[in-house]
Amino acid sequence: MKIAILGAGNVGTTLGAGLARAGHHVVYAVRDPAKYAALATGNSTVAPVSDAIASADAVILSTPWNAAEAAVTSAGDFGGKLLIDATNPIGAKMALTHGHTDSGGEQVQRWAKNAKVVKAFNTTGVENMANPVYGDARALMLLAGDDAAACEAAKGLATDLGFEALVAGPLDRARFLEPFGRLWIELALVRGQGRNIAFGMLRR
Ligand SMILES: NC(=O)c1ccc[n+]([C@@H]2O[C@H](COP(=O)([O-])OP(=O)(O)OC[C@H]3O[C@@H](n4cnc5c(N)ncnc54)[C@H](OP(=O)(O)O)[C@@H]3O)[C@@H](O)[C@H]2O)c1
Repeated sequence: MKIAILGAGNVGTTLGAGLARAGHHVVYAVRDPAKYAALATGNSTVAPVSDAIASADAVILSTPWNAAEAAVTSAGDFGGKLLIDATNPIGAKMALTHGHTDSGGEQVQRWAKNAKVVKAFNTTGVENMANPVYGDARALMLLAGDDAAACEAAKGLATDLGFEALVAGPLDRARFLEPFGRLWIELALVRGQGRNIAFGMLRR
């Protein structure tokens, strides 16, 4: 699959590197291609935002929340493509800007013209995106989206990265996933557990 990464920071480059390693073609959708030229290696390229989106099969949104609306609208029409929203809608004092009756994922869907939005990758840190393996277990990646095929495609990408991937329901379940992502931040960064922790699923 050819995947455009909209937001070539910590999350974007970590997911991009992992997906390229898994055999996907990655195109970094950036405002200043010269600044990001070093990312063009192997099966990864760098292109202006609208060109990158137009050339890709799917898009990952990985900008800071306060840049998400500008980034999504600069992309133009998504042409019915999968748009994975990896952002956490965090504002002042680390508070969620959406919750209970709305979510960042649903807000991204309202901004993104003709996109099939799936919330994913927001509930863990970049260290786990780079390596989700914990001994015999794999970190859990929960996803939420309204389109079944888009959810399956996003689940496939999470699986390619090594996660145990599970669709948690329609996009409004992003109202659960975003507080869950904020909880990971609380445990890892505020409560001293460190960044090498991950949520997992036990079954019997
Ligand atoms: N860090 C984590 O462990 C983690 C984990 C899960 C989820 N998240 C979420 O993932 C998102 C990204 O986090 P991050 O840590 O990767 O942030 P970051 O390193 O600060 O990345 C910011 C990137 O976004 C780009 N950007 C900003 N506005 C843009 C626009 N209008 N169009 C295109 N690109 C734009 C920046 O490019 P320029 O150089 O052009 O400014 C930069 O490459 C956040 O919403 C965060 O909550 C983070």
